[in-house]
Amino acid sequence: MKFSPRWRVIWLSLLLVCGAAFAADGAPGQAPAGAVRLGQVAQRPGHAAIASANFHATQAGLDVLAKGGNAFDAAVAVAAALSVVEPESSGLGGGFMAVLHRASDGHDVFIDAREVAPAAVDSKDYLNADGSPNRDASLKGPLSAGIPGEPAGLALIARRYGRLSLKQSLAPAIRLARDGFRVDSRLHDEMVGQQKDLARWPASAAKYLVNGQPPSEGAVWRDPEQARTLELLAKHGDSDFYRGATAKKLVAAVRAAGGNWTLADLASYRAKERTPISINYRGYHIITAPPPSSGGVAIAEILNILSGFDMSHLDQAHRVHLMVEAMRRAFRDHNDYLGDPDFVKMPLDMLLSPYYADGLRQSILADRATPSSMLPAASAGEPGMHTTHFSIIDADGNMASVTSTVNYIMGSTFVAAGTGVLLNDEMDDFALVPGKPNVYGLLGSVANAPKPGKRMLSSMSPSIVIGPHSTAVIGSPGGSTIITQVLEGILHFIDGESAQQIVAHKRFHHQYMPDVVAVEAGTFDPATSAELSRMGYTLKQRASWGFMNVVTWNRKTNQLDAASDPRHPSGLGKVQ
Ligand code: DON
Repeated sequence: MKFSPRWRVIWLSLLLVCGAAFAADGAPGQAPAGAVRLGQVAQRPGHAAIASANFHATQAGLDVLAKGGNAFDAAVAVAAALSVVEPESSGLGGGFMAVLHRASDGHDVFIDAREVAPAAVDSKDYLNADGSPNRDASLKGPLSAGIPGEPAGLALIARRYGRLSLKQSLAPAIRLARDGFRVDSRLHDEMVGQQKDLARWPASAAKYLVNGQPPSEGAVWRDPEQARTLELLAKHGDSDFYRGATAKKLVAAVRAAGGNWTLADLASYRAKERTPISINYRGYHIITAPPPSSGGVAIAEILNILSGFDMSHLDQAHRVHLMVEAMRRAFRDHNDYLGDPDFVKMPLDMLLSPYYADGLRQSILADRATPSSMLPAASAGEPGMHTTHFSIIDADGNMASVTSTVNYIMGSTFVAAGTGVLLNDEMDDFALVPGKPNVYGLLGSVANAPKPGKRMLSSMSPSIVIGPHSTAVIGSPGGSTIITQVLEGILHFIDGESAQQIVAHKRFHHQYMPDVVAVEAGTFDPATSAELSRMGYTLKQRASWGFMNVVTWNRKTNQLDAASDPRHPSGLGKVQ
């Protein structure tokens, strides 16, 4: 792959000079020494906390803990329950990324249950005749679906980290699917929004529409086919889904509707354990997502840049200015360098280096926006929030930070007949058409081009933050805005905010291109907005923000808190 357009050579030379100067000078960009690692802290909370976007899912996790499960069994229970009660966001037909912390030995691990491209993937399938992106192909129907990772990921967590059997941890989800639950306002609204597409495929219509209409809010809704698929997962582990009767049904349904999956695609899927990215910032240790997520690399780059500034003495406009400039630079690198680590060589040492951050910091003007057009380009719409994040701490101090997704609203809207499985539309997360942004406005390079068996780049950034006296498990949905929302949540936690304050905090976002600061209403007072405009920023109000779910542990007082984002009607954070 190509690493060096001319501007970058110039920039890198500049940063090497600056970096060397800073290093000799006490290195303001370097990670602070002595950041806490929880592995060294011999303490347990004695009780547990879970925050998720749905109270049934939070309760499923708490039930499994009450049966003797640990945070990892609870994570399996919550994820599976969300597949049933929040199908607009995640499910068996999608994938997830998780950061786990095991208290007994301080082991931190990243679980990569991201979808992969089928062997027959062909970029041309996602182009219109005139060469423009065919959004219908990349976002709807079987061609938009990557090979799911969620069942393999859940089985891996249960096998390697759980205390209970998969059968015990899946029991609450099976019950919810079989006995039914009441449709909440959000699920109803999302089904209405996707009604036309759901009606295109008989199994989707049969599952989600009653006489052509989505169930009304408050109606009891059952999912017997998914209950059966979950039962098979509980009984056989993931072998049924990837190599058994369910695999055959998935492939038959996908191919009958014009897709290209094969049994070999499913049989060769593996969820993977990877080493998470670790960042030290202001005495806090942050454990977060490595590639194939871009989240951890971007968060690290932003924090490394910010660590050289004393933000505490700045007014809001100047703090936001520095954060946006750091975001802009991190997203530019995201677009160019990052992809599936099993396929592309990435300059991670450089991107994560404090010296690289020093150079980028030097390029930030004190009082002025740097136009992104100084560097190359794209554009974005405003997608709604789909994907889901949940956070868990158990009584022993085990932690699970899990972001799970089918990508866009209700994924591909395609249900594979006979399985109850709603497939993802994660293929759109690849850079399918060179130079054209995906649905989140993200550009990509050859590093994120589709290839057989390759994972598409993600923004999912499940994280754990460990400070001198407190710990947070944090994450959010939100497409490309996941990265900046999680970053802001981490900074609010470091600034001493409670879990409730963090999830409710107003947010803003910049992703390099388009060169605008997306802002939630009420984030900036009029004076700050005016000052930011004067510095050269274009502010654009954005309505939808991720449903952040956070649990915190104050290790001095041993208090746990769990907070679900107030923007979601059905979320629940609960301490037990
Ligand atoms: O993996 C990713 O980055 C996306 N598929 C996540 C999608 C998402 O968060 C949808 N919410 N807006």
